[in-house]
Amino acid sequence: MDHFLYKDGVLHAEDVPLPEIAAAVGTPFYVYSTATLLRHFRLFDDALEGMDHLVCYAVKAASNQAILRTLAAAGAGMDVVSEGEYRRARAAGVPGDKIVFSGVGKTADEIRYVLSDGVRQLNVESEPELEVISAVAVELGVVAPITLRVNPDVDAKTHAKIATGKSENKFGIPIAQARAVYARAAELPGVEAIGIDVHIGSQLTQLEPFELAYRKVAELTEVLRADGHDIRRLDLGGGLGIPYTRSNEAPPLPSDYGALIRRTLGHLGCEIEIEPGRLIAGNAGLMVSRLVYVKHGEGRDFLILDAAMNDLVRPAMYDAHHDIVPVVEAAAAAESTPYDIVGPVCETGDTFARQRAMPPVAPGDLIAFRSAGAYGAVMSSEYNSRPLIPEVLVKGDQFAVIRRRPTFDEMINRDTIPEWL
Ligand code: LLP
Repeated sequence: MDHFLYKDGVLHAEDVPLPEIAAAVGTPFYVYSTATLLRHFRLFDDALEGMDHLVCYAVKAASNQAILRTLAAAGAGMDVVSEGEYRRARAAGVPGDKIVFSGVGKTADEIRYVLSDGVRQLNVESEPELEVISAVAVELGVVAPITLRVNPDVDAKTHAKIATGKSENKFGIPIAQARAVYARAAELPGVEAIGIDVHIGSQLTQLEPFELAYRKVAELTEVLRADGHDIRRLDLGGGLGIPYTRSNEAPPLPSDYGALIRRTLGHLGCEIEIEPGRLIAGNAGLMVSRLVYVKHGEGRDFLILDAAMNDLVRPAMYDAHHDIVPVVEAAAAAESTPYDIVGPVCETGDTFARQRAMPPVAPGDLIAFRSAGAYGAVMSSEYNSRPLIPEVLVKGDQFAVIRRRPTFDEMINRDTIPEWL
């Protein structure tokens, strides 16, 4: 459920009509609903009620500080994967001891930065990284709390580009090597292994892969404890999928996922962390664009928008489906026509949808992309020298620009021309 509904035939973000935002900030833009963000966070928080837990929002999904602050104020921790994300979370007011640092290639500089400023734990992805973390911690005179991310070799049954839990993926330490790496960690002076981390992929629409992975984690916990390691925290990653269409079968709910965690891991008495990103932000955001031209091609008609693949890359990159709807609702009886919905960027990949049935639309109409809150704005670029589009946050009947549209000069003037030219 989200808070983007038609009222009197006009699509609203909570109580704000989208044309009002378009008039204020121009198009295209991203808009997020505070109520939806909070609702989704609370679904996870409630799903783990009664267990010692922290929901660490995966900052990569939508990293605007206003979003981070909204979630942090509700009690969320954060999962970050770079110094940039860490600094964003800190700038948004999140204390270091609620920030988990994940990622497959943390550099010594990044490790130094987060250890100096305070971090809840580092999720270690390889033995060489373990050695570096220990060395940096020793140099700083601290002991780094760590978990080892294990790769359970489980098929997440999702898009290949976002599956991370198979042995051929670059992520984590093969579960068969875990005992040896924990033994090594115990010898190192700069780290204390307090738990296990696992994350098998994103947009999972079934619970079974989670179940397989968590059973392996439960087994490993017992083995490591028997080896003398004090395993007391389990970070279970993110990955629960969202419905991208109104019609298809809905993925499992956070409450089902919570019950699964309780069933597979509850007996261990560990503190549980989860790192959801998409489920919190995905359906809490829309991208709103304007129709520029309707072009009648040879056997195919095109809707050419002012948004492009640089603004929302998911369709081009993963063949992802986003529901695309007119902001002003068509009459119920209106007939729909198939269109290819495209942007103005100079490549054929700049296609949001092929032969998508659309109600009657005309140039100048506002068009909304649903489920664009996660991995939308954060993955955008300035390709074709198109400035990044603004982000807007709605709360009830108020809205605020949380990242403004840069001017052309701001974009262009970042270049510097060498003296010799
Ligand atoms: N934790 C770790 C270690 C991750 O790598 C990820 C996502 C998450 C948590 C959050 O997963 P979520 O709950 O959002 O599924 N750009 C792609 C998705 C990439 C996901 C990367 N890792 C897309 O647009 O579908």
